[in-house]
Amino acid sequence: MTRTHRILIADDDLTSRIALGGILKKWGYSVDIFDNGDDACNRLMGSDDYQVAVLDWMMEGMDGIEICRRLSRSLRKESCYLILLTARQDLRDLIQGLEAGANDYVVKPFEPEELHARIRVGIRVSRLQRDLKKYSEDMESLAEQRAQQLVHADRLSTIGTLTSGVAHEVNNPLSFISGNLRFMKDCWPTISRVLSESRQNGREDTELIDTILTEIPKTLQGIRTGVDRISHIVDGLKFYARKGRAEKAAMDVNQAIDQSLELCHNRLKYGIHVDFARTGQTLVLGDTQQLQQVFVNLIVNAADALEGRADSRLEITVNEEENIVKITFRDNGPGFPAGSESQIFTPFFTTKDVGKGTGLGLSICQGIIENHGGNITAKHNEKGGASLIITLPRLSERSTT
Ligand SMILES: Nc1ncnc2c1ncn2[C@@H]1O[C@H](COP(=O)(O)OP(=O)(O)O)[C@@H](O)[C@H]1O
Ligand SMILES: [Mg+2]
Repeated sequence: MTRTHRILIADDDLTSRIALGGILKKWGYSVDIFDNGDDACNRLMGSDDYQVAVLDWMMEGMDGIEICRRLSRSLRKESCYLILLTARQDLRDLIQGLEAGANDYVVKPFEPEELHARIRVGIRVSRLQRDLKKYSEDMESLAEQRAQQLVHADRLSTIGTLTSGVAHEVNNPLSFISGNLRFMKDCWPTISRVLSESRQNGREDTELIDTILTEIPKTLQGIRTGVDRISHIVDGLKFYARKGRAEKAAMDVNQAIDQSLELCHNRLKYGIHVDFARTGQTLVLGDTQQLQQVFVNLIVNAADALEGRADSRLEITVNEEENIVKITFRDNGPGFPAGSESQIFTPFFTTKDVGKGTGLGLSICQGIIENHGGNITAKHNEKGGASLIITLPRLSERSTT
């Protein structure tokens, strides 16, 4: 089924209106007719339904040329092909019409077939423009989707590199949970014997019961701590790996850094001294998961750079400066490879072995930080080592209430 195309006509001359309306309807178009420029212009501004508008150049009130001018200045979603009807043949006038935003003109008196041919061109052009617009919107949303997938893939890849650490992290509380359970199991025959004997004999074995009374709550507390620790680690990982759209809210940068350090605990605990002096709350408007992803990437990069070096340090500072928050990750590793400061943010730039580095970390960090209205820069430290400096707009406590 072919769609009926909608055409708007504006002409202040009754005879022309009747004649034009009649032939356009005969050609099968759906036609709306206006007898003045103001109403025609309002309708065109408020509706995306028309593919073509045939406008008389000379009209009382707003003329055709003024309609073209206003429409071309407006930010309407869909374009409409504008044909001016004119008795003028002066080339300069016609140029003026086209410059005002008209797409074409037909000189009166005209052959109906000529007008029809030009309307068909208009419908074609308007369809192509709409298709093109739809195509570019689809492309934009595809690019947006791909970018999100890439950000998520990076999170999963850091999770991959942290997994062996996580296994360790979970193993530790698990081992004291099972130690405590073993203790409870070993103790139980004695406990139950003592309790039942003391009930039967009315005798109280004070010393043993005292021990039971002090040791059992401690053992249970040990189990509780272990279970909490495991669920905390698992929650942290689940939050970090979660797939979802970015949602910005007031958040404390210090807390997000703490959580990131916890996720990376195992990469840091062998010999890297972390110096992070947290100072109260520093609020930004941000997506916690995404900013955590940035911090984790920077911490893992520092840990990679510091691996196997003596006296290795990572210093993290958060400073509030007027309207910005400045977060610095400063390590005393080998620094960026010579001459690479401009490349490290390029996607796929990595100096690490296959399987260890993807080269996506810093480019994703840059994307996330810029999306938060901030920026990230790299700098060699004077005494050696690398610094990555993030600035983000600061959220004052007042603006959150
Ligand atoms: N703290 C750092 N010290 C030295 N070099 C670094 C540091 N952080 C990043 N780099 C360099 O930047 C490169 C790109 O980092 P990134 O984008 O995170 O990718 P990847 O870590 O997968 O290599 C690294 O391969 C490394 O050469
Ligand atoms: Mg990295």
